[in-house]
Amino acid sequence: MSAQNELKRQAAERAVEYIQSGMVVGLGTGSTAVYAVRRIGALLAEGRLQRIVGIPTADVTAREAEVCGVPLGTLDDHPSVDITIDGADEIDPQLNLIKGLGGALLREKIVAAASRRLVIIADESKRVDQLGTRAPVPVEVVPFARRPAADYLTSLGARVVERQRDGRTFITDEGNVILDCYFPGLANPREMGQLIRAQPGVVEHGLFLGMATEAVIAGARGVVVLER
Ligand code: 5RP
Repeated sequence: MSAQNELKRQAAERAVEYIQSGMVVGLGTGSTAVYAVRRIGALLAEGRLQRIVGIPTADVTAREAEVCGVPLGTLDDHPSVDITIDGADEIDPQLNLIKGLGGALLREKIVAAASRRLVIIADESKRVDQLGTRAPVPVEVVPFARRPAADYLTSLGARVVERQRDGRTFITDEGNVILDCYFPGLANPREMGQLIRAQPGVVEHGLFLGMATEAVIAGARGVVVLER
């Protein structure tokens, strides 16, 4: 395992310690969150956790959970989620986030909004002083609106790139496209989030502001827990 993956695993496994038997648990998506799913599965297999219901934030996460033996439910049956453990692409000092480079931002934000606790797990490379300095802001858009939405996002100061995978347009689990918006940093992410949402056809953006309750961050000098 690479050193970075080892840090991802450490952060994920520390966060899983917050889970108690009987909880409804939001299962995040990405290369860090997968370690949490695997750990939950291992604790269930050992009998150290029981009666967990996982709410997956992506089809790929649901498949991983099934492989790991984590029982799954839906927000229809479990509209209140006790805790969600998920990764992030950028984390600022106030625990505001950019998420969605894994393409699951819409379901991730829906599950996060339904959660009493949103625990973010990451290696220390994800910490930034200002959002938008390293990662683009992913914006999920209905395909019909992709051109006017791209023009609008450009007018907000972004360099806009439609997300591709394997040489084709990337399509989300909800059937939409993602426009990755590269800004030269975001001095006011809340205002930018509101401006982005104002455009018809924009379904959601990857700015998660005031949502994370904790961040578990693993670095060379150990694991730290930041609280909002
Ligand atoms: C997926 C996400 C991921 O949580 C985010 O991209 C971090 O992924 P990774 O742990 O692979 O760096 O938001 O939509």
